[in-house]
Amino acid sequence: MKTKTKTPSAGRLAGKVAWISGATSGIGEAAAELFAAEGARVALVGRRLALGRKIAQRINARTPGAALALACDVSDERAVARSIAATVRRFGRLDIVVNNAGMVEIGDLHTYSEAQWDRVMGVNVKSMFFAFKHAFPHLRAARRGYVVNVGSISSFVGQARTPVYTTTKHAILGLTRSIALDYAVHGIRCNCVCPGITETPMLWEHLNVRPDPRGALNERLRRVAMGVSLSPADVARSLLYFSCEDSAGITGTSLVVDCGYLTAAEWQCSGPTAFQTPVR
Ligand SMILES: NC(=O)c1ccc[n+]([C@@H]2O[C@H](COP(=O)([O-])OP(=O)(O)OC[C@H]3O[C@@H](n4cnc5c(N)ncnc54)[C@H](O)[C@@H]3O)[C@@H](O)[C@H]2O)c1
Repeated sequence: MKTKTKTPSAGRLAGKVAWISGATSGIGEAAAELFAAEGARVALVGRRLALGRKIAQRINARTPGAALALACDVSDERAVARSIAATVRRFGRLDIVVNNAGMVEIGDLHTYSEAQWDRVMGVNVKSMFFAFKHAFPHLRAARRGYVVNVGSISSFVGQARTPVYTTTKHAILGLTRSIALDYAVHGIRCNCVCPGITETPMLWEHLNVRPDPRGALNERLRRVAMGVSLSPADVARSLLYFSCEDSAGITGTSLVVDCGYLTAAEWQCSGPTAFQTPVR
């Protein structure tokens, strides 16, 4: 049954519909919240439906009918196709695709199985192909379409013991440029946001295996010019930028949001920075 939802009339994304993958936590969750606050109706796409529903409920309490939770493994083409069809069925259109879902496997390349390699490639890159393929007719029909892919600082440099992740994040830059070139004719812009150290479950999953997780994070932050980590909401603001006309005229590019991590080949904070003290 088609559920009627009210089209919000205010905000940068008023009248727009966004499909956001990996929206059950971290950066994707923050993007769903921000996009809804900016007037979009959002499909929260992820594997953990109960979690997605909880977040959708929270958003709907503020903006009734703005959020829909959908179960989907983004490495499964049929599931992606179904989630896009369900988004359009519910909201009547699709303007924005945020390919945010991602995973990391830590290990040495010679120990990987083919299945492990394929899994990370499937979740991080092939998923973007699936999402674009099935969203394309709707983005074209909208006459202005926005595709925003989430890369990483690993789109530009290597990180120890994450060979497949690093490969996927580099590949995302190529895919972003290809989509930008081939689909501008249809009014679609495609850009990539490349976050640095962001405090999400993914980050803590990796830090928590260390004896002193907070200490390990502080040690890493000594390599970051601003001396701080990003919040998921910081990254979501850049996703929003590429999902609306604030970024008019920009396509095929990548935006590094990393508190200065990639600015220097060698760097060590000499002491506290002003960014470590909140401004009132
Ligand atoms: N946290 C960081 O420091 C950091 C840095 C650079 C890039 N990133 C990227 O940001 C993106 C979001 O990650 P995050 O940091 O918010 O971590 P996160 O673990 O909170 O979010 C990742 C999301 O992707 C979902 N996901 C994983 N596999 C999936 C699948 N097969 N199908 C559907 N959903 C799936 C997870 O359930 C989760 O909701 C990822 O692409 C990640 O590579 C994160």
